[in-house]
Amino acid sequence: QKPLKIAVVPGDGIGVEVMPWGVQCLKEISELYNIPLYFEEFDFASVPFYKKHGDMLPRDWKTTLSQFDAIYFGAVGMPDELPDEVTLWGSLLKFRREFDQYINLRPCRLIAGVKSPLADRKPGDIDFWIVRENTEGEYSQIGGKMFEGTDREIVMQETVMTRFGVDRVLKYAFDLAQSRPRKKLTSATKSNGISTTMPWWDSRVREMATKYPDVNVDKYHIDILTAHFVQKPNIFDVVVGSNLFGDILSDLGPACTGTIGIAPSANINPEGKFPSLFEPVHGSAPDIAGKGIANPVGMIWAGQMLLHHFGHTSAAAALLQAMENVLGRSDPGVLTADMGGKGTTKILGEAIVGEIRGFRK
Ligand code: NAD
Ligand code: IPM
Ligand code: MN
Repeated sequence: QKPLKIAVVPGDGIGVEVMPWGVQCLKEISELYNIPLYFEEFDFASVPFYKKHGDMLPRDWKTTLSQFDAIYFGAVGMPDELPDEVTLWGSLLKFRREFDQYINLRPCRLIAGVKSPLADRKPGDIDFWIVRENTEGEYSQIGGKMFEGTDREIVMQETVMTRFGVDRVLKYAFDLAQSRPRKKLTSATKSNGISTTMPWWDSRVREMATKYPDVNVDKYHIDILTAHFVQKPNIFDVVVGSNLFGDILSDLGPACTGTIGIAPSANINPEGKFPSLFEPVHGSAPDIAGKGIANPVGMIWAGQMLLHHFGHTSAAAALLQAMENVLGRSDPGVLTADMGGKGTTKILGEAIVGEIRGFRK
């Protein structure tokens, strides 16, 4: 069996603090299930890499990383030292585009032991997937500035949607919905206000829906959709959205399940032509970086998605179980502060590693 080659990019801030636990959990679980994994670490980040080289990535990054099956990514961004648009367009957004990771898959699940800020919600009430378009849409580099620095300053940025790009993400979302018991798909739109791209998006959804007669489709404007995430999250099964809408929904969704600190994300190139990238939904969290209190679960769960993506479903299920067992005990000494506890990254990381080791017996 050829080892699965994983490029490890911890990045900045808490990315560096949570990554070791992600890697450790992957090592433990792969040992248990005899899955050969090969890891190689890269120091691509704002600090100190950018400071030293003047760029977020080396010139040959694409050739180097193309030799891997997956990128396991922490987070980048040190906004006090380097503008975010430089950091993110210099690494993460480059990976998503140049490796054509056009699906950004983000689960949103209320887990036993993690308290939801929503009243009276229990595990099972929130359990859906967000499928976010990940290579085009509102995240475009088309636009510009005129009359800069004058009182007639103009700034423009185009939203770019292509039939190819939208249809492929819709197809993925419909396939996912069809594979689930409830077979329900919700589309995020804003066709009342955004008068060109969004009515067109709706029409692509309608056309795709004709190929999936068994999938129950609905749509909401993004404004009321965010309200429904909070007030009736139980109605969702698969939610598909453009790049920006998907981004916003995928912080809100996990926040409804307690904390964004547990949320993972898979940036997938479904054809496998390029490596896919697995990362937590959260960023580098400069406000808590260096304190050792970051929640490692988002990072570890992203590793779980990696295993699942490559067909190691039993190992992935076991890793999820290990996380759920630890969280389910709701031990305030183990849970990190974002979940209302007093635990540290290390305490929670060790608890999950210990749980995996317990499976050996
Ligand atoms: P953020 O996700 O880094 O942090 C938002 C809030 O959530 C902060 O209060 C933070 O302390 C908390 N938080 C995040 N992850 C946590 C965890 N694992 N455990 C406990 N608390 C956690 O978002 P932000 O503040 O908007 O961005 C900070 C920097 O990260 C910026 O430079 C931003 O551009 C970047 N960012 C990077 C990525 C990425 O690389 N994938 C994603 C989002 C933001
Ligand atoms: C995410 C992040 C990124 C995004 C930022 C850091 C560019 O928020 O992965 O959700 O907007 O996609
Ligand atoms: Mn985001």
